[in-house]
Amino acid sequence: MYAIETDLLSKIYKNGLKAVDEVSIKIENGEIFGFLGPNGAGKSTTIMILTTLLKPSSGKAFVAGFDVASQAKKVRENIGYVQQDSTVDEYLTGRENLILQAKLNHLPKEFMQKQIDDILGIVELTDRQHEQVVTYSGGMRKRLDIAGGLLHRPKVLFLDEPTLGLDIQTRYKIWEYIKKIHTEFGMSIFLTTHYMEEADKLCDNISIIDHGKIKVTGSPRSLKSSLGNEVVVFETDSDEKLDNLISDLKAISIVKEVTSDASKITVFTTNGDLLMPKIFQQANELGMKVETISLTKPTLDDVFLSYTGRDLREDNGKYDRKKERERLRKIRA
Ligand SMILES: Nc1ncnc2c1ncn2[C@@H]1O[C@H](COP(=O)(O)OP(=O)(O)OP(=O)(O)O)[C@@H](O)[C@H]1O
Ligand SMILES: [Mg+2]
Repeated sequence: MYAIETDLLSKIYKNGLKAVDEVSIKIENGEIFGFLGPNGAGKSTTIMILTTLLKPSSGKAFVAGFDVASQAKKVRENIGYVQQDSTVDEYLTGRENLILQAKLNHLPKEFMQKQIDDILGIVELTDRQHEQVVTYSGGMRKRLDIAGGLLHRPKVLFLDEPTLGLDIQTRYKIWEYIKKIHTEFGMSIFLTTHYMEEADKLCDNISIIDHGKIKVTGSPRSLKSSLGNEVVVFETDSDEKLDNLISDLKAISIVKEVTSDASKITVFTTNGDLLMPKIFQQANELGMKVETISLTKPTLDDVFLSYTGRDLREDNGKYDRKKERERLRKIRA
């Protein structure tokens, strides 16, 4: 039995938008699995289906062995869900929030207080538990959110963008907590993120998702090495014959993949040192000059680029996350 298994899972919203498109995944027990994708890729929609908050339009999904459509109650008993946006009450203390949540989850009373003590310890909020959440930092709130998802010791924990909007140091801290709870409880974790580094650091396996569709699945390491082990990025002085140059490069045996974004060309290769002189030579033959060139190791962002033709980082600036959030909140309410 898998922790999570879906088969051709799809969701079409009322407006006709296919937010999740025939997603099939298998997640082993104890695995940390990540959905890596840009804004609007369908990550939260998938999580909402798996946590039984949304009905799929078609396809099947099983969580902890239970069917999300026909055994929703059983699914809910076995999962923890930490939403993208914080759900804690700011005017209650940290502990009061957890008590409230424990009651909503019908946690047995005798078990509840000890459980809350333990979990506050794990997320290191014991000292601040009697203070109102309004006084907490973003990282502390997120830790409290995560604590809430752990209260009934779920078999499968869902974390929707666990470090969104946090500064880099706080993000690293949250990664440590996620690793710690994973070691401590051994549960399976399904997380979504659009930070490639997060997927890289935390996940055993990931799927890259874009426009509701899975583009590729594998361990971060295998995805990166499938591109060859090196990346050469260069720019030329003119893009008139860029297409010719790209097709010339694609014909070279040590070249795995070539992508272009305006005048920036990215070449995935098994041997960067050997490739670089060839790039100069081919460009020269076409009457072009190479203006900048650099050799790096592939990142998951490169993997994303090679499968979607777009840069994962690009989306961040153009998109007004707050506005979109507000819009969705209204639709969903
Ligand atoms: N209730 C809804 N009705 C119509 N469209 C929706 C609804 N909820 C989400 N969408 C759209 O479905 C797509 C997927 O949204 P979703 O929130 O699942 O993406 P996401 O990957 O979680 O994005 P983000 O990184 O912004 O959280 C988006 O295009 C979004 O605008
Ligand atoms: Mg989302």
